[in-house]
Formats: sequence, C-alpha cells, structure tokens
Amino acid sequence: MVKYLVRELIKDVYLLRLDDVRTKYFEGLWYIPEGVTYNAYLVTTEEGAVLLDGWRGNYSEEFIEAVKEVTDLKDIKYVIIHHTEPDHSGSLPKLIEATGGASKLLGTAMAKNLLNALLGIDVSGFKVLKDGEVIKLGSKSLKFIYTPWLHWPDTAMTYYVEGKVLFTGDAFGGYSTPPSITDDNPEVVRKYLPYARKYFANIVATYKQHVPKAVSKLNSLGIEVKVIAPLHGLVWVKDPSIIINAYLSWSEGRKYGDVGKKVVITYGSMYGDVAKVCEEVAKELSSAGIEVKVFRFDSMVQDPISEVIGESIDADLIVIGASTYDAGTFPPTDYLVRVISKKFRGLRKSIAIITSYGWGSVADRELSKLLSEAGLEVAKVIKYRGKPTKEVIEGAKKELINLIK
Ligand code: FEO
Repeated sequence: MVKYLVRELIKDVYLLRLDDVRTKYFEGLWYIPEGVTYNAYLVTTEEGAVLLDGWRGNYSEEFIEAVKEVTDLKDIKYVIIHHTEPDHSGSLPKLIEATGGASKLLGTAMAKNLLNALLGIDVSGFKVLKDGEVIKLGSKSLKFIYTPWLHWPDTAMTYYVEGKVLFTGDAFGGYSTPPSITDDNPEVVRKYLPYARKYFANIVATYKQHVPKAVSKLNSLGIEVKVIAPLHGLVWVKDPSIIINAYLSWSEGRKYGDVGKKVVITYGSMYGDVAKVCEEVAKELSSAGIEVKVFRFDSMVQDPISEVIGESIDADLIVIGASTYDAGTFPPTDYLVRVISKKFRGLRKSIAIITSYGWGSVADRELSKLLSEAGLEVAKVIKYRGKPTKEVIEGAKKELINLIK
C-alpha cells in the first residue's frame, strides 16, 4: 500500500508527499532502511495552478491522483522544474500525457536538456527562465532563483513572494519519512536531523561549497523566508534557520548544535588483527567520554557505506582501519576511502590510519595518497605486522587520545 498525503501548508500552497519505504538503495547506491519522501508542491491562483516538481516515476499514478485532489489537471498552467533527477521528474511524462501537454514547463536551460535526455520529454515548448525572473499568475508572484550544483548543474529554487515560501529543490532536504510534515514538534526535528545529515553527506556533500554560495545569494536578495519547502523530508515552517544552519555547518564538516566530540572508527579486517586495535581504541575513547561510532567490514558484518559517510561528515576524528590485501588495500576500505575522498574533499578533518600487514605494508601508503590527493590530512599512521602486541595497542590508544584532545 503506497502512502501519500496532500496538505495545505499555508493558504493556496499544498504539499504532495509520497513516503517511499520500498526503495532500499537511494540512487541505487545509498542504503536507506529509513525510507525517503518525495515532496512536490502546488500553488493555486485565480488564474490556474502552478505545480512545482513531482515524484519518482513508479508512483506516477498516485501522483496524478494527489494532484487531482487539489486541482483539475487542465487548470495547471505551469510546471516548474527545480531539478531533473528522476526521483522528482520521473512522474512528469505521465502527467504530461494526462494533461494533454497543456501545462507549460519552466526551468533552467540545463533542466530543459536533461528532461529530454533522461526522460525523452518533448521540450520544444519548454520555457527557460532567467535568474530572478518572476512568473505572475493571478495575484501571486513566483521568483525563480538559480542555485546551481545543489546537487546537479540544473538546480534552482522558487520564492513565492506573497506567501514567503522558498521551494528549495533537494537543498535542505533529508532522508526518512518523518511522522509529521513540518518542524512543529522538536522531538520529530531531533530525530530527523541525523537523517538530514546523512542525506547531505551522501547526496549534496560532493558540491558542498555551493551551499554557502546559495545561502549568501539568498541573503543578498533580501527576501524574508517563512517556509522552506524541500523535495525530501520535513517542511520547515516553525524555524527554517535550523536546517539552513545545519547545512552550513555540515558543508564545512562541522557538527550542528552544541554537541560534544565525536570519533568515527571504520575498519576492514580479514582475521581480526586490525579489528583488535580499533575496538580497543574505541573502548578507550568511549571511557574518556567521547562519542564513538564504529563501522565494520569483516567476516560477520558489512556495514552500510551510507551510514559511515553520514556519521563521518561532522566527526572530529575519523579512524580508518584496513589490512593490506593482495598487495593493496582491503577492498571495502579502498572503496570507502575513495567515496570519502570525493565527498569530503578539502574539509579540515583529522584522519588516522591503522593498518596491519603480512609480507608488505601497502594499505597505509595507498590510503594516505588517496586522502592527500583530496586535500585531506592524515594526522597519524599506526602500522604493525600481523597480530598487534600489547605495546601496539597501548601506543595506539595513547596516540589517538592525543589526537582528539
Ligand atoms: Fe532528490 Fe537529486 O534528487
């Protein structure tokens, strides 16, 4: 049973939210047992309606039913596209079919190209909007704002002037299917923010430098924003500054809010020699009152990369444990560090490597090279041959406690 809802957020502005709990790997890649919502919006006016984005294509029928709860399809004058990734644009071909192509598609030039390339949509009638262009319909004004690279080159936002609502595309979104639609309940917000951080780290982080750019641009426009309406997760009506400041913090690899130090320890271990040191270090740091998250790739557990990345983006220290394997790095750790290098490029992060080897130590050199090429500094390398001795374990504890102090 597919769950969706249609709610009026403020007068004449409707949220159409689909809770997708079927998708296990977002973008075919990121494990999300918590699910994800697709949020589309409708603004109704005296002269017709404006639809803002859509849902994933496999929910097209439900999407059309949701739209019909608010307006006749023939009354949709415009469809504004803020982002063409198919989790939002996938329902567009069926909608166009259902409306007989009567609605005008609006967006960036890149969106026009991508809609055609990704979905085969006839874009001959597509109107490319200029940065800052205002669309007037009835008594309502919608200002289109270019915010590229959040997280594709096609991305943009729309500001509904009279209602002070900013439709932000993927930006300021998050994973999970929160039990409420807005940020009214602080407990819902508290539980949601780690999922927003995970979404940020998984999806937006590669282009994180564009978050402060977009926020500066919005500030320079002098617009008052009462509602932030993203394409995933909670709609922010009570305090939009929470999600804006959280995104700004994460874009610099910092924690949002007044929280203590955090260490992520992620290790790949064939026969327990790397695991032993990492687990002992984890115990030592925990007993010093530091929050420690441990992720494993070993004979019993293969933790999701999506979680490692989500927890690591705002960690004070990341400890990467890996054995040398086939004269290279233990493959799951090699993959993880390649993702970290891409997502966290240029962040000021403290990183340590713990590695055990047999006939030759290669993992530490390979990992250090990957990380340094991404502008990430390796503060400490601890390596040993085979089984760790007591001295190795005690030394590692001391070195890593010093790094986090
Ligand atoms: Fe939610 Fe980039 O699509």
